[in-house]
This record gives sequence, C-alpha cells and structure tokens, in this order.
Amino acid sequence: MGNIGSYEEKYKNFNWKISEQELEYGKDGMYNLAYYCCDRICEKGNGEKLAFLWEGFKGEEKKFTYQDLSVYSNVFAKYLQDLGLKPEDRICLFMERIPELFISFLGVLKMGGIVQPLFSAFGEDALFTRLEDAGTKAIFTTRKHVRKIRRIRDKLPDLAKVIVVNAGDKPLEKDEVAFSMEDAPKPENFELYKANPEAPSVLHYTSGTTGKPKGAQHVHASIIAQYITAKWALDISPDDIYWCTADPGWVTGTSYGIIGPWSNGTTQVILDSGFSSAKWYQFIEKHKITVWYTAPTAIRLLMKDGTDAVKKHDLSCLRHLISVGEPLNAEAVIWSKEAFGKPFYDSYWQTETGAIVITNYPGMEIKPGSMGKPFPGIKAIVVDQKTFEPITTPGTVGLIALQPGWPAMFRTYWNNKEMYDSKFKKGWYICGDRSSIDDEGYFWFVGRDDDVINTGGHLVGPFEIESALLEHEAIVESAAVGKPDPVNMEVVKAFVALKPGFKPDADLELSIINFIRKKLSPLAMPQEIEFVKSLPKTRSGKIMRRLLRAKEWGEEIGDTSTLEDD
Ligand code: WT7
Repeated sequence: MGNIGSYEEKYKNFNWKISEQELEYGKDGMYNLAYYCCDRICEKGNGEKLAFLWEGFKGEEKKFTYQDLSVYSNVFAKYLQDLGLKPEDRICLFMERIPELFISFLGVLKMGGIVQPLFSAFGEDALFTRLEDAGTKAIFTTRKHVRKIRRIRDKLPDLAKVIVVNAGDKPLEKDEVAFSMEDAPKPENFELYKANPEAPSVLHYTSGTTGKPKGAQHVHASIIAQYITAKWALDISPDDIYWCTADPGWVTGTSYGIIGPWSNGTTQVILDSGFSSAKWYQFIEKHKITVWYTAPTAIRLLMKDGTDAVKKHDLSCLRHLISVGEPLNAEAVIWSKEAFGKPFYDSYWQTETGAIVITNYPGMEIKPGSMGKPFPGIKAIVVDQKTFEPITTPGTVGLIALQPGWPAMFRTYWNNKEMYDSKFKKGWYICGDRSSIDDEGYFWFVGRDDDVINTGGHLVGPFEIESALLEHEAIVESAAVGKPDPVNMEVVKAFVALKPGFKPDADLELSIINFIRKKLSPLAMPQEIEFVKSLPKTRSGKIMRRLLRAKEWGEEIGDTSTLEDD
C-alpha cells in the first residue's frame, strides 16, 4: 500500500497539521474547500489531468479535466451570483447523477453558498421537509424531477429560484430558469468567496428516531480530514482510477465522491446507471479501476451472482477495495478474497462525522467481521449505555463514543442546537451505535442504539414513514420497523391499523406501498404491510416500535408489563 506506512506509528505521531501542510490549507488566506478540489490541482501543473469520467446508462461518456472542473465550477458560481444568490444561502442539488451534480457542488461552495445535496429519488414529502427546514433559496434540478418541486412550491416561500438543467423545449413555469453548463458564459476569472475555515459548507440531511430529518451542517475545514482519510484509508493517489458507487445525495457521495478524490488529484469514474453485476464488472474492466469504494448491500448482490460472473472479466486492475454504510459481514470479506483476490476493507463513519473515523487501515491485518481501528487523529472508545463512562473490559458491548474536535465533524444540526447538544455526554460525541472492542483494539459493530432503519446502507427514519402513512386515507395508526433481509440487511415493514370501512386486502396494501414510494422514496417504501387491529403502546400512549422490531428479528421481547392490551 502506497500512502500510509505502519498504522501504529501513524496513529502515535499523528497531527491534523500533517494534512493541512500537504494540502497547503490556508495558503494566501484561502480556506474555501472548492479551491482545493480543482483550482489548486491546476496551479500545480495538473490542469490537463483527467478528473472525472462519467458514463451514462446508455453507455455515453463525458470527460472532464481538472481545468474543466475549475472552469465549469466557476460557471456555476458566477451564474448563482448573477441570479442574486448570496453567501450562506442554502442551495439544493436535486439531480440524478449527471456531471452537473458533481460540478455544481463545487460551484455553490465557490460563491460561498451552503450546498444541500438531496437524493433525486426523493418524493415530494421527503423533499418538502428538507427544503422547508433549511429555508432553501434555490434548487438545481432536471426536467425529470421538476414536477415534484412544482407540487410543493407554494408551501416554500423561501424558494426563490428553481434552476432546471437540460430543460429541453417544453416551457418552464414562473421563477423557473433553464440552465446549461456547457452553453453558459464562462467567466475569465472568478473570485472565490473568502470562506473562513469555520464557514458553513455542506448541509446533509439524516434521519433520527424521532422528529424530522436533521441537517448535519459541515464547514470548509472538513477537507483537512476528508483529504487525508481518502489518501490513507482509501489509499488513493493521483495515479489511481477511483470509483465510489455512492450518490452525492448521501454523505459518502460528497466526502468521498467529490472532496476526497479531487483534493487528492485522482481520476474518478462515475456510472450513472442502476445495479447489474455484469455492468459493474464491465465498468471496472473497461476503465481499469484501481480503488473501489462501495457498500455491503452491493457486495451481497454481487455475491448472489457468484464468482463465475467475476471470472468472465479481467479485474486484475483492482488494487484496493473498501466498504461503508452497514456491517460488512465476514462472509463478504471471505468471498471477496476468493472473487477478487483481495478482501474488502471496512470503514465506519456517519453523516455527522463527515469523514471515516474507524477503519481497517490498509496494511493492517483484517479480522473479518471487525470494522478495524480508529483513524489517526480520532480517539474512539465505547462507553456504558447508562453512565457514559468508558468501558475498559475488552469484549464488552457499549456505545461508540468519539472525542470531539476532528476537522470534518458536523458543527450543528441546522435549526436544532438542542438535538445537537443531546449527542454529547460527558464530553464525548455519542454516535448512537453499539460495538465492542477486543484486546487488540479492533472494533466489532453490534447494532444501532435507536430505531432508525438501515436499508442497503441508507438510513430511513421510522417517524418520517409513520407520518406519511398517516396521510393515507385508510390509516389511523402506524409503526415502521426494520425487518431482516438477506441482501439489504433491513427493509421497511409497516404495521397499520385501518379506519372503519377499509378492508385489509392486497389492493390496499399496494396502494399504501405506492403512496410511500411516491411521497418519500423507494428506500422508505415498505416491503411488507401487516394489518393490525391496534398497535402495542406504553401506558403513556407511545407506540412500542421496539417490540414489533424484536418480533421481526426473533429476539426476546422482554418486559411487556407496560403494554396496553394483552
Ligand atoms: C450509520 C451512519 C458512513 C457514511 C454513509 C452512511 C451505519 C456506517 C458502518 C460500518 C456498520 C455502519 C451506522 C452509522 N454504518 N458504516 N462500517 N459498519 N455500520 O452515513 O447515513 O449517516 O449512516 O450507518 O449505524 O451510524 P449515515
């Protein structure tokens, strides 16, 4: 492994200054992270290097050098300024994975805006909640998704501009503007917004157990951690061809699908196409991908198609494989060795941590099933669930706790400081996951400490689903829980009680499933609906989701004495 050397030594002698010095972060008073993702690479004489190769679902390709990234991100920045948008305005990206999605991310940051990426498969309710919370001023979208915005536009007084990329010929509506990256005027020079290191940069929405999704707010200085973790944990260098399969609607797709690779001057490839193992292997072979960052659900899907599908291709280009988002089961690590001749390395982090915090470091011995050890600069322990005191006995399960202060850590939840403060106990940031640590310092993930559903590496909040279910005309009461699934780890299962006059049949089930898919997203869509007369509740009337979940997982139900019925 090229970039990193011995883990122990790196951990012991680490200081974030190492990253700042390599990046020259802050030179000439420049802290805007977008500069370090393109302009700086050009200034170093690598403007002609390929930054980005994009392949669409029909196999069409587009290529962008670092110089192109620099110019086109200026195009976006200038365009936004000319539209009257100001620093710290929230500007949402709501597009499928087209090149404009990646480049506009840098453009928004260049003019000082706060970039709010949202997964383009979100339906109107999911979109509305997040735009309303952020007080979003402008949104980039495409023809394909604009109608979802039209349906909620009246309820969003702050949303001044809807910018439609590749709008086509059909007329647009009031305050919608058509935009083409290629045809827009190219500013000779663009003066980047002089962000200070603590200036807000990215707002990523993430789901919790209760309440609405929360906007984890990051700052420009996050790049200090994203750059060095991409270099050391993902082991990417300018010589690599790197593929991150995540969508920039999620934090992996921005921290390691934009900032990490481009600040390292690497070439990254993007495939804007649905999953198929044959397509993925062809893509790796064709572009000679060397470093591949993906999720356990994708690995399990590949496993289903077997090693024969792998052997039809020459994948000897692959040098380093890393996984994120859900527990990487030992079987997947073992299978990957058989299929690709190398194991997948696990990495653990969150929207809130902004960068990898625990990982199987390249060069370190992997224990299949373990997430690895804290990244240099990160102090991670497990604490007791009740007292939040550090647990010192190896093998004992506790809550993962991090010492605050690494550069990519979120600085608050947007408009919700109270929730942010509640994440800290006795000076530790509590991740909300359970794990043990063995006598060699390896972390072994156990599960989440809340009711959030992790489906295919995407977190879905039960509260958001339940609220949407209650909007359905037939439903009076609802609960959403994760149910085990061999590929996606968990899928959503909904329990619903019906209003009088509605019949629990297959048609109604389908109608409810579609209702959620349309309002929220295909991820939040229940795979199963169970019709019940009523839901188990505590004496105070709170629905006991945990009990329903435990049943799905075949776990002990425990004390039911506070239940309403039975
Ligand atoms: C949650 C964070 C990490 C960026 C993408 C997801 C779960 C994440 C692992 C892992 C087991 C993992 C945790 C975490 N998770 N990585 N390697 N092993 N679980 O970001 O949407 O904020 O989700 O994903 O539960 O808290 P996110």
